[in-house]
Amino acid sequence: SDEIRDQLFEIHEWAAKFYQYLLLEHKLGKNALKYFEKRGFTRATIEKFRLGYAPRAWTALFHFLKKKGYPDYLLEKSGLVLPGKQKNGYYDRFRDRAIFTIFNLRGQPIGFGGRVMEPDQNPKYLNSPETPIFLKNQNLYGFNFAMDQIRKTGQAIIVEGYTDVITAHQYGIENVVASLGTSLTENQARLLARYAEEVYIAYDADTAGQKATLRGLDILKNTGLIVKVIELPDELDPDELIRKNGAEAFKSLLEDAISFIDFKLNKILKQYDLDSPDGKVQAVQELLPMFLNIDNAIEKDYLIKQIVKR
Ligand code: CTP
Ligand code: MN
Ligand code: MN
Ligand code: MN
Ligand code: MN
Repeated sequence: SDEIRDQLFEIHEWAAKFYQYLLLEHKLGKNALKYFEKRGFTRATIEKFRLGYAPRAWTALFHFLKKKGYPDYLLEKSGLVLPGKQKNGYYDRFRDRAIFTIFNLRGQPIGFGGRVMEPDQNPKYLNSPETPIFLKNQNLYGFNFAMDQIRKTGQAIIVEGYTDVITAHQYGIENVVASLGTSLTENQARLLARYAEEVYIAYDADTAGQKATLRGLDILKNTGLIVKVIELPDELDPDELIRKNGAEAFKSLLEDAISFIDFKLNKILKQYDLDSPDGKVQAVQELLPMFLNIDNAIEKDYLIKQIVKR
């Protein structure tokens, strides 16, 4: 109900305040603050994105929220605490992690991501589960901050992760949002299409990122968006590239972005030996569904010409 949703918003607002207080004001958060600073985030960025720290204790957030008067069942619904093994009591989902706050379109906290601060710990990120106020397949991380710029330019850039969004925004590239590792959904594509005509995919250069790029391409394309792919050099992700080479380097990759058709064509043709008749047949067979899926006559014509040429 609306009442439950309202209370879940409140709980998340309190949790965001709790985590940020620990990061910025408490000695327990010192390490996490150092971690974020080492990643190059400024104080203004830390405050804007409401970064925080979840302490190591098992029930710190639980007790904080209980003192605010929320019943157990609501706290459990928030996903921020989990029921203990021995039937009574709850424990905090996020413990000893650097916290990224996830917002809805209106900028309200609706979930969190918690990152380990040591290189060898697993899993690297823990995320809030799906809740009545956090519908994962409809949300894009950073959209609340990117909306104006996306509308203004008609262009959006999709990246994979929290830190890619945050670094891009800190460096003044403000039309950037993240799908948070999961492959892009139709709902997310539709959300983008309400504000943008053109979308750039800037996923990591690793295998996972490249697979996600291929899936995301089709979904975005089917929404009627113009889709381009940014190819990142040297296995860097956008966060690493921008910090290493600057915002201008990232912007120049935007200018070199390749079209949906060329990206898929390259990917497919690379898998076959095009000097052999068998290879040619196999490549054409794999290109056929892509060809049939294109409505635009100019694009169809372009694809045919490329296939013949290659
Ligand atoms: N992710 C996740 N759980 C994991 C790994 C990744 O939810 N165990 C999501 C996170 O949203 C993450 C995104 O997938 O931001 C991209 O993953 P990855 O490229 O591995 O992480 P980065 O965002 O580059 O994080 P970092 O720079 O902190 O290593
Ligand atoms: Mn990656
Ligand atoms: Mn990264
Ligand atoms: Mn990454
Ligand atoms: Mn990394």
